[in-house]
Amino acid sequence: MTMLSFAIETARCAGALLLDGLARRRTMELKSAYEVVTEIDRDSEALIVAAIRRTFPDHAILAEEGGRVERESPFLWLIDPLDGTNNYAHGFPFFSISIALMENDTLLLGVVFDPLRNELFSAERGAGAWCNEQRLRVSATPTLASSLVSTGFPYDYATTADNNTRQFTRLQARTQGVRRAGSAALDLAYVAAGRLDAHWELRLKPWDTAAGALLVLEAGGRLSDWRGAPWNPWNDRLVASNGRIHDELIAALAE
Ligand code: IPD
Ligand code: CA
Ligand code: CA
Ligand code: CA
Repeated sequence: MTMLSFAIETARCAGALLLDGLARRRTMELKSAYEVVTEIDRDSEALIVAAIRRTFPDHAILAEEGGRVERESPFLWLIDPLDGTNNYAHGFPFFSISIALMENDTLLLGVVFDPLRNELFSAERGAGAWCNEQRLRVSATPTLASSLVSTGFPYDYATTADNNTRQFTRLQARTQGVRRAGSAALDLAYVAAGRLDAHWELRLKPWDTAAGALLVLEAGGRLSDWRGAPWNPWNDRLVASNGRIHDELIAALAE
């Protein structure tokens, strides 16, 4: 079994668990003032972490709900067991599972799975990006004015002025629309698929972005931080685009 097929199979198992939980249970807890977590986030993470520990016991893991497994290893798995928990908890049908693998500083593979639509987005460095059996390519939208883009807001939105509101208002007026769908990993997969022309956000975590970022790169898109400088999963201000509108978007964010 390759590492990619392992990640795909594991994401599918976690997806089944999410669908099952959606039909049965809906207990929510607050992690902070606005961030909810459900028992399904934890169950999904336990399933994924257990699978990695069984199959790759020497690999390190960083997962959102506390599944940090330290190992002296160049391999690090970045796991978001349920991206879009707020949506999930309210029954809004836009959430995903995100699994990425890095070797030292290099992203090797990324999988984002939308179990409701049975869309499995996957990418391997140098081998392209896919949705199920279909090769992905970013859009050819040439200008910001003709684009549909997406963003998100941090959980500490209400307590800080650096919360993306000004940028959101500006971009809403200069594009054909800004979507705030609530799963950064799936937003990035949609950029890779050409359904969105760009996504920008701040205060994202490595488990939110790593898999989706590789999807965008392998679909021919561009990644940077908000200033246009090189981005890595530990940089919390991401711009991911089809490449063609990237500079215009960076300039608009910086105003
Ligand atoms: C959140 C989602 C959301 C983004 C937040 C993330 P979670 O992740 O990706 O779209 O705006 O910044 O924290 O908590 O649902 O896994
Ligand atoms: Ca997340
Ligand atoms: Ca999550
Ligand atoms: Ca969360």
